[in-house]
Amino acid sequence: MGAEGDTSGREVRVLDDHVALARAAADEWRLRALAAVAASGRFAVALSGGATPRAVYALLADPAAPYRDALPWARTHVFFGDERAVPPDDPRSSYGMARGALLSSVALPPENVHRIRGEDEPGAAARSYEDALRAFFGVAPRFDLLLLGMGADGHTASLFPGSPAIDEPSRLVAAVPAPAAGPARITLTLRALQAAAHAVFLVSGAQKAPALARVLSGESGAEALPAARVRPAHGSVLWLVDRAAAPFLAAP
Ligand code: 6PG
Repeated sequence: MGAEGDTSGREVRVLDDHVALARAAADEWRLRALAAVAASGRFAVALSGGATPRAVYALLADPAAPYRDALPWARTHVFFGDERAVPPDDPRSSYGMARGALLSSVALPPENVHRIRGEDEPGAAARSYEDALRAFFGVAPRFDLLLLGMGADGHTASLFPGSPAIDEPSRLVAAVPAPAAGPARITLTLRALQAAAHAVFLVSGAQKAPALARVLSGESGAEALPAARVRPAHGSVLWLVDRAAAPFLAAP
């Protein structure tokens, strides 16, 4: 495993493979959950959809792994970074995926799960999720842990390159069209992502390598990739990437 830190609150860790990546992410969850509960009595985490986090959720729920019985589920509040405009039982639902892999297997009070209502009209779902965030956090959603993925085009959450939602000045949540064929999305805006205390990107696979190199390069053109713009104002960013995604990164 390699690690690179810098003074901007950003750290990059290269893990051998997707299994090691899932373990590193679960370790990070445990660290942040225990610290947040010790400091404030609760742990607020935002989940990512996509394929990469599924192994992390399964590990957290695994009774044989050192997480499930060590974590403060009763004090954990689960949110979502984005959602597809589909009902919870649709296989494309991020909430449905997280429920199947994690939420239904741990002692999490149902009222601590704050999902985005993908079955509602997207604009209405965005507004009601924003209201829920403001009721819970006040002005800005300061997640103790914000899990994010990155697409091969540099998108993160459902902020796709060129989307007006990226520069949305006041809303925390936006309804956005699907990038290609597919359901509309409801997503946290960049403004909301920047309020997190700690963001962790999970990036796996060779198809992400060019975008990852660009995002981490710091070149001015990289700002066109939404993932490069996530820099919490009073927080840190950890990039957990596997070796397959990292061939173009400078050695630590
Ligand atoms: C989602 C997220 C999206 C995802 C990336 C990476 O699909 O739910 O909105 O931002 O995290 O597309 O997805 P993979 O982990 O599947 O590559």
